[in-house]
Amino acid sequence: MKKHFYVTTPIYYVTAKPHLGSLYSTLLADVLARWNKIQGKDVFFLTGTDEHGQKIAQAAEKAGKNPKDFVDSFVPDFKSTWDLYDIKYNKFMRTTDSYHIRGAQHLVNVLMEKGYIYKSVYRGWYCTPCETFVAEITDENGHIPGPQCPDCGRDTHIISEESYFFKLSAFGDKLLNFYKQNPHFIVPKERSHEVISFVESGLKDLSISRTTVKWGVPFPNEPLHTVYVWVEALSNYITGIGYGQPDKHNEFNQWWPADVQILGKDIIRFHAVYWPAILIAADLPLPKKLLVHGWIKVDKQKMSKSLGNVIDPIELQAKYGTDPIRYYLLRQIPINQDGDFSITDVENRIASDLANDLGNLLNRMVALAEKYNVMEVSAVVKWNTASDSLHDESVQMIQEFYAHMDDSMFHLALARLWKFIHATNAYFHGQEPWKIAQSNPALFKEILSATCHSLHIIALLLLPVMPHKMEDLLASIGMHFEQGKDTLESEQLQNWDRHFTLKKIPTLFEKPLREVVEGSSMSQPEKTENLITAQLPENNYITIEDVAKVQLHTGTIEACVAVENSDKLVQMTVNLGDLGKRTILAGIRKSYQPEELVGKRGLFITNLKPRKMAGTESQGMMLVAEDETGKVQLVQFPDVVKNGVRLK
Ligand code: MSP
Repeated sequence: MKKHFYVTTPIYYVTAKPHLGSLYSTLLADVLARWNKIQGKDVFFLTGTDEHGQKIAQAAEKAGKNPKDFVDSFVPDFKSTWDLYDIKYNKFMRTTDSYHIRGAQHLVNVLMEKGYIYKSVYRGWYCTPCETFVAEITDENGHIPGPQCPDCGRDTHIISEESYFFKLSAFGDKLLNFYKQNPHFIVPKERSHEVISFVESGLKDLSISRTTVKWGVPFPNEPLHTVYVWVEALSNYITGIGYGQPDKHNEFNQWWPADVQILGKDIIRFHAVYWPAILIAADLPLPKKLLVHGWIKVDKQKMSKSLGNVIDPIELQAKYGTDPIRYYLLRQIPINQDGDFSITDVENRIASDLANDLGNLLNRMVALAEKYNVMEVSAVVKWNTASDSLHDESVQMIQEFYAHMDDSMFHLALARLWKFIHATNAYFHGQEPWKIAQSNPALFKEILSATCHSLHIIALLLLPVMPHKMEDLLASIGMHFEQGKDTLESEQLQNWDRHFTLKKIPTLFEKPLREVVEGSSMSQPEKTENLITAQLPENNYITIEDVAKVQLHTGTIEACVAVENSDKLVQMTVNLGDLGKRTILAGIRKSYQPEELVGKRGLFITNLKPRKMAGTESQGMMLVAEDETGKVQLVQFPDVVKNGVRLK
């Protein structure tokens, strides 16, 4: 029997178009769904929109629309954004759909029948943006009501109304016991501490109906009440797969309990406390895992409409493409922490990881194979030592990649995979196949074959993250991905016995066009020009003595690192032959990653007065020139000239 995998996202409030934060939750689910699909499992991926409640009703009123028209106007934006990012959900559920309304009512009825619901009066504070009841805050003088929401810090308002209550207080011990028995229920584990201490501090019964909110699911047999929006919203995870619909009984049993429920850290209490308590009360199994991610921040603050710092995923896609942004979000933002969004990081990841490390490797290999007309590449019987150790590294990497994916630590899985890409690059370049293509064709083919085997593994493991680009990569080595079988197992990735048919494809990843490098003296033509004009004699000529003042030498960059506290500067150690080694800084990080510069030979002004930049002294200056795209290019010199030779 085929294994099943059911993954859910939170359902999104539809008061605006989706932003990068909503994309992030959904993308994590898509990557997990694809990762399980390529292992041959039957996958169900549920996402959707949270359309009821006071927050939506107020936003609709402000927009001068009735709530249903208001939510209807945003739903297409969610669907088209997910399509744009190649997010392949199985069902997009809306809480205004009639099957959901019936399912949520069915759940309330079950809780009622089991004796977990009673009627009383709720008096207390409510935060509309979070749709949450705010408990009284206790200080040393006794109880004082909290006018501010402890979650979002915004003002709350008092409500006092008849309400139905869910006996949450009866579930404290059961929940604590469940967390203990299931230590992997909340991932990452650190997040479980706040949940456990919340439950340990004592649970109060939860108000689950409102009389003053009309835009909601009618409470069963109580026409004046609507179901509290969070209770109704949480039930989407079961109503979306048939709960409460007699003809969908099998479907529901087939998928529930969910394997992974994805959510942001701001909504952990609802998912890790209220939701499991409701499920226990309804005699339903609990989800196997809650995967809790951090926030994407912009300028150190959570992205939010009210702060006006939201990043539009559609604009981002238009500029950088689907797969590169999918890769960036998975690689750059550690799932267990908050992460800062930055365009510089997006561009660096694309230029360095995708275009240089991966795209160029493929291009160079295929171009070389084409040059020597070796487009059919078979495995070899006896690999040489270098190929063997690349193979060993691949076996090791696959194991570690799987372990990180099993822990849902996508950023670590990708970092590990990139270490292997670097190893493959080092192998390919270290073997210098271009030198032996004619003199030793057997070795030439072996190098191509080992590189193809590596690229094949890389493409399959990266398929969930960059589905399109990796299919292109597979096509260029004559492979393809077959849906429906356990690709990773049946491909027996550790066996290097495949035949590849190479095909040239368009450049896999384009480097983003860089803006002019700010802060580098080379990139500020007006400033430099002004400076020069002021010092020049009237006719603008300089004499040979003036030229002699500038000492220019050849040198090799032996080491290079990024300068902390600066997103432009790199710090190089430059070998200037007889002049010794110098530390030289340059503002060229937008065009080069530090590691790309190592080994490059350039021209340096060696008698420039040392000056401090970002806390480090620079003892010279490197000559560069911008190309048409705005990328800074080093001024290089031929190999026959040694380091430390003065230009004249
Ligand atoms: N409607 C509720 C969820 C109900 S689930 C039964 C809700 N909606 S939301 O639209 O406000 O948020 C949905 C998800 O988006 C949450 O997981 C939230 O953490 C995530 N994100 C919203 N902004 C975010 C960032 N800036 N960064 C990362 N994710 C964040 O809560």
